[in-house]
Amino acid sequence: MSKSSNFFQIAIDGPVAAGKGTVSRLLAEKLNFLYVDTGAMYRAAALLAMQNNLSFDQEDEIASLIANSKLEMRNPEGDKEADGRLTTLILNGEDTSWAIRTIRCSDGASKVATLAKIRKILVEKQKKIAETQNVVMEGRDITFKVLPEADLKIFLTADLKIRAHRRHLQYLIKGIDKTLEEVIVEVKERDERDMSRQIDPLHPTADSWILDSSQLSIGEVVDSIVDKVQTMIEEKNGIHEKK
Ligand code: DC
Repeated sequence: MSKSSNFFQIAIDGPVAAGKGTVSRLLAEKLNFLYVDTGAMYRAAALLAMQNNLSFDQEDEIASLIANSKLEMRNPEGDKEADGRLTTLILNGEDTSWAIRTIRCSDGASKVATLAKIRKILVEKQKKIAETQNVVMEGRDITFKVLPEADLKIFLTADLKIRAHRRHLQYLIKGIDKTLEEVIVEVKERDERDMSRQIDPLHPTADSWILDSSQLSIGEVVDSIVDKVQTMIEEKNGIHEKK
């Protein structure tokens, strides 16, 4: 099966706190691609549930809300959005880039992400985004469900303790009071939920580049991906010129 779009697609999957967001954002900036944080879309579904006083298992109601909502994702623009966010998410005309980052919304997102109807709607929206522009899209099912024909597939991972340590630091910066041990348990639980859910559980595909960032800085990870993409783009252009 050949890819339906001519745009360059980078698909990145991996467990929680592997650095997918930061790496994807920097990568998108260097390559001038759109960064698509698909986790933000599941968070938006959870936020809609919260705003409408629904519980996170009310599948039909949440599916209907998300299907009828306008979701816009873009790279942050201007001084106003230079506030540390990795992506800007406009939900029904409202900037919800930070509202989706609360612990409650994060927990809700991992619950609504187990619901088939929600996944179907969001996967369709994600496929559409990648049809019209070059993207770095990250999530848990991008390499095998959303963009199975992506030009480059990466499974970005790191040791559990290193990921928990990174998440713990992020919490400290945000003023969230949790011990490292609590965060290890939380990350482990989140991994289990993502990897054992019935629909599209997170896993590395056979054709993914497994990138273990345990011993690498973010800059080293980004540079190695940029090198690879540049080589691929040059090869792709070479092939096109010969046609
Ligand atoms: O990456 P994140 O923490 O913002 O993702 C929020 C939740 O959504 C997380 O529990 C995993 C889930 N998710 C998913 O199931 N599929 C995706 N493509 C992206 C995120």
